Amino acid sequence: MDELDVFQAIYSCRSLRRFKPDPVPDELLAKILGAAIQAPCGGNEQNWLFVVVRSEQQRRKLGDIYRRAGAILVSWYEKVDKPGHMSTAEYRRFLTSGLHLHQHLADAPVLVVACLRLEGLASVAADHPREPQLAMFDSVPWMAGASIYPAVQNLILACRAVGLGTCLTTNHLLFEEEVKEVLGLPAEFRTFALLPIGYPINNFGPVKRKPLSEVVALDQFGQAAAFTKTPS
Ligand SMILES: Cc1cc2nc3c(=O)[nH]c(=O)nc-3n(C[C@H](O)[C@H](O)[C@H](O)COP(=O)(O)O)c2cc1C
Repeated sequence: MDELDVFQAIYSCRSLRRFKPDPVPDELLAKILGAAIQAPCGGNEQNWLFVVVRSEQQRRKLGDIYRRAGAILVSWYEKVDKPGHMSTAEYRRFLTSGLHLHQHLADAPVLVVACLRLEGLASVAADHPREPQLAMFDSVPWMAGASIYPAVQNLILACRAVGLGTCLTTNHLLFEEEVKEVLGLPAEFRTFALLPIGYPINNFGPVKRKPLSEVVALDQFGQAAAFTKTPS
């Protein structure tokens, strides 16, 4: 297989939710997990834990939880409007693909649950009572996510590079305590993403995103950046 450069991987790394039953070799799992943990994290604490779920019994338990969460989310998706940047056909494909995963999560040969031990920043704040601004770290919920999602994205791109499909999912958070129980996770761990991984049935990319001109401002809000105009 030819090597992909990083831009080719990024631009063709769409979410894939249907998987062949073929097993994922240990060497590939080690390779993608090794890539995941090269990511940056707050304070270089590396309090992450990636639970690799291969056992059929464990996958079925997580699949059951994901299916129940999916049933709740479906009724929510029925009430919200589709994002304006998606065509009706694109939105239908997105919903169909998501629905498929609700029913078939456990069919992926590997599930990875990305977790983080949440005692690092909290203990820093507790150890420094005279520096109340450190408590800020505990009151900004996305501080924790910022220390695990870069690793998750590394994992996603590494999957792409070795020909594995995956999709970042968070639906399981509706029943996170049940997921933690299935995995035997101690209380101080939280789960941030559940990724089905396997050889994809569908093709990779290209991903479709809003144009840069809609999502980049130069120097201040609302000011267009000339370099983001699509060349004509
Ligand atoms: C924070 C986050 C949560 C997501 N949760 C789910 C999910 O629970 N189930 C799912 O099928 N996809 C989930 N996705 C995948 C998005 O639906 C997908 O990235 C988005 O629709 C863009 O599609 P693309 O990746 O194919 O370009 C999630 C993505 C992110 C970043």
